[in-house]
Amino acid sequence: MSAEFLAQLESIVGSDGLAGPEAIAERATSYWDPSPMQGRVLVRPRSTAEVSAILVLCHAAGQPVVIQGGLTGPVEGAVGTPSDVLVSLERMTAIESVDPTDGVAVVQAGAVLQNVQDALAAEGFLFPLDLGARGSCTIGGTVATNAGGINVLRYGMMRHLVLGLEAVMADGTVVSSMQQMLKNNAGYDLKQLFIGSEGTLGIVTRVAVRLFPIPRSRQTVMAAADSFDAVIGFLDRLKKGLAGTLSAYEVMWNNYYAGVTGPDGHRAPLDRGHAFYIIAEAEGANPGADEVRFESQLADALDAGVIVDAVVPKSDTEREALWAVREGFEAVLPGYIYDVSLPIRNMTRYVDRLNAMLDADWPGAIAYVFGHIADGNLHIFTAPHDGGMYRERSDAIVYGCLEGLEGSVSAEHGIGIEKKEWLHATKSPAELAVMRSLKTTLDPRNILNPGKILS
Ligand code: LAC
Ligand code: ZN
Repeated sequence: MSAEFLAQLESIVGSDGLAGPEAIAERATSYWDPSPMQGRVLVRPRSTAEVSAILVLCHAAGQPVVIQGGLTGPVEGAVGTPSDVLVSLERMTAIESVDPTDGVAVVQAGAVLQNVQDALAAEGFLFPLDLGARGSCTIGGTVATNAGGINVLRYGMMRHLVLGLEAVMADGTVVSSMQQMLKNNAGYDLKQLFIGSEGTLGIVTRVAVRLFPIPRSRQTVMAAADSFDAVIGFLDRLKKGLAGTLSAYEVMWNNYYAGVTGPDGHRAPLDRGHAFYIIAEAEGANPGADEVRFESQLADALDAGVIVDAVVPKSDTEREALWAVREGFEAVLPGYIYDVSLPIRNMTRYVDRLNAMLDADWPGAIAYVFGHIADGNLHIFTAPHDGGMYRERSDAIVYGCLEGLEGSVSAEHGIGIEKKEWLHATKSPAELAVMRSLKTTLDPRNILNPGKILS
């Protein structure tokens, strides 16, 4: 990269908008990988026009660009090399507008998810996308990865919450698809091209997101069940009995729960000897009646033996302590992180297969299982990690067990670099060919996040 090229970048973003390799190396590669970040230069634009000017320059020079959000993704989707231009929208964090009638907010892509949630809550709105990384991940990152998280069963993934967006194409063209209606069938739905494209088809700069009224009541329970049939039975009861207000249904297998509440972990809210632990949450508009209905569902499920124990938090602090068991998994890390999805009816077979294959092919290894069951999404952390030496073996087991079970190698984390070799297990040759042709058409010089998703 020439000094002239760097000077041109500086003329776009200013000297405080650029950082060199040493400053870049002060950042970690990602939440999951503490090794120093690599890149030739980090550019921090303040506007869509600046992003466009950066890409015009990089496109002309054939210069690879890696777009970065909050660096919480676990699939190496935002990893740079020493010769890359890294682009971070961390200076584009404004909530530009809120339309209370249509229930829409326009947000810049660099805004941190939790800041957006909090700012909108102060105006009486719920922005329902929620995930453990809420304090670091950005709106742009959650669009680029089509993030999921804990409220998908009620509100959908990021894809379902985006009404419009603005993106900059590889050659610097700004595509503004900022319509804000739920219904818009005027030709191809271009925004969907960028959602979940992991920075390979364009850089998302602004997003119009759907808002919901802030719930007036929230009920939470952590429950224990002794079989997976009971886990499914409890989900079915809550879906039907709570009239569509169930917003989260997270399940932890025994070894995950025991692991995260072990000596280095959280206090165990329930006895550690059960087969499954569930955190269920409902949000409603009528505090008194909602609570009565929720507690009567719990009482019925306990009476019927569907759940065998339960704890209902009496304060926000107690609620947070329950969620910490689900979201604070440091005690079982490091490990290999997976987010497979498959029909709920196939989950028991999958986990049985997984454990059998681990015993046979990787003796002494453990698979911690948990996840967003209602979305068909299992997380698996396999260990020991041992600096990454078991990656291939672990992948072969976790993905190999999916065969014939109608699943996907990624429910919500995406492909990045880490899952490229396994994309074929979910996408057919015809689908891969369409993906390649889209990439070639939209980014003919292959400058946007090259080598991610597709080789
Ligand atoms: C979670 C991340 C691993 O659900 O997706 O906690
Ligand atoms: Zn998840």
